[in-house]
Amino acid sequence: MASELNIQICIDVLSTDELTQQERDAMLLAQETAKDAYAPYSNFLVGAALVLEDNTMFKGSNQENAAYPSGLCAERTALFAMSAHYPNKKIKLIAVAARRRSEQHFLSAMPCGACRQVMAEYEHKQGEPIPVLMHGPEGNFYRLRSVSDLLPFQFNKEHL
Ligand code: THU
Repeated sequence: MASELNIQICIDVLSTDELTQQERDAMLLAQETAKDAYAPYSNFLVGAALVLEDNTMFKGSNQENAAYPSGLCAERTALFAMSAHYPNKKIKLIAVAARRRSEQHFLSAMPCGACRQVMAEYEHKQGEPIPVLMHGPEGNFYRLRSVSDLLPFQFNKEHL
């Protein structure tokens, strides 16, 4: 019989009170930053906040374009801009918040595949896990301990 490989992913499901102060601050910044999204086509507003190793924060929102594929997600906007400004700083946390323009509540939306791949690159580069915080269903939060939980079996530069 063929053997089986089972992968376990651990997600912390947390109430607001169970977040650290820094996680709350990062989530608040992600939520605030979603307001700045340039999303005239989808009206889907996404904000991402990065907490860096020196506890400073860096933000990004999704940037759309009339030539649709030229736009970029909030997570990659934040990550690329951060890495361009501070190429050697490590990332301690990525917080993401997404909502429809017509609604105030934030959705339980997961980062897309391309953003997971980019997050994985920086996690691999820094050699330390990057936790990812996002809204879960029913007003709670999901915290993954590492990007590899979002993207198992990832392709990275060791494969080249
Ligand atoms: N979007 C993000 O910013 N992050 C994701 O992980 C998923 C999708 C953006 C891209 C586009 O501007 C809008 O949401 C609708 O897909």
